[in-house]
Amino acid sequence: MLMLIDSADLKGIRRIYDMFPVDGVTTNPTILKNAGQSPMEQLKKIRAFIPHGAQLHVQTLSSTAEGILKEAEHLLMELGDNTYIKIPVCNEGVKAMKLLSSRGINVTATAIYTAMQGFIAGKAGAKFVAPYVNRLDNIGFDGVEVAKNIHDMLTCHGLETKVLAASFKNTQQVLSLCEYGIGSITASPDVLEQLVNHQITSLAIQDFNKDFSDLVGAPDKTMLDF
Ligand code: E4P
Repeated sequence: MLMLIDSADLKGIRRIYDMFPVDGVTTNPTILKNAGQSPMEQLKKIRAFIPHGAQLHVQTLSSTAEGILKEAEHLLMELGDNTYIKIPVCNEGVKAMKLLSSRGINVTATAIYTAMQGFIAGKAGAKFVAPYVNRLDNIGFDGVEVAKNIHDMLTCHGLETKVLAASFKNTQQVLSLCEYGIGSITASPDVLEQLVNHQITSLAIQDFNKDFSDLVGAPDKTMLDF
């Protein structure tokens, strides 16, 4: 399963890259707004920081397929290979997905709220389709179930498209999709950190440290001291 960082905040991206086995970064216009910098400058900084082969997903804003194609060309020129063109699902968006995919350009379909949207985007050649898990939960649907349905539909129809589950607010949502074998997830630095943190683990570490201090008769010693 690929694991991506859903953020444009360089501090957060660096923190997660230092600790976790992540595969790239996803952004959207809101995420860029939260970073508060000129969008292309910020995207270039992210590109320069992440490893060469890492994915960078960047969303287009145009409302026509023609406009989306031009934006995609611009993004690829500015940000280079391994840039995934994120396109919201709508009729013009799907048209653009079909055209870009036929030219070998990596497309990520986004803002997906139904299984059918995910399936059509996959059939249009998108490499990834991003159902919004938590936003679905917030409007009374089951986001995890929608993501699973899309995964099943893509698999049973033999499409290579992977689900890139997005919009997470808690680790349980991520766990459910991980257990199911979903292709990839993207989550904020905060949610990613919580995938590992556990109070009981922290307590166990504390106990081990105390026992070691008791054994050697001094605090803060490690194996290097012996
Ligand atoms: C990623 O592709 C989406 O843009 C993002 O996960 C949306 O997340 P949010 O619901 O936290 O805004």
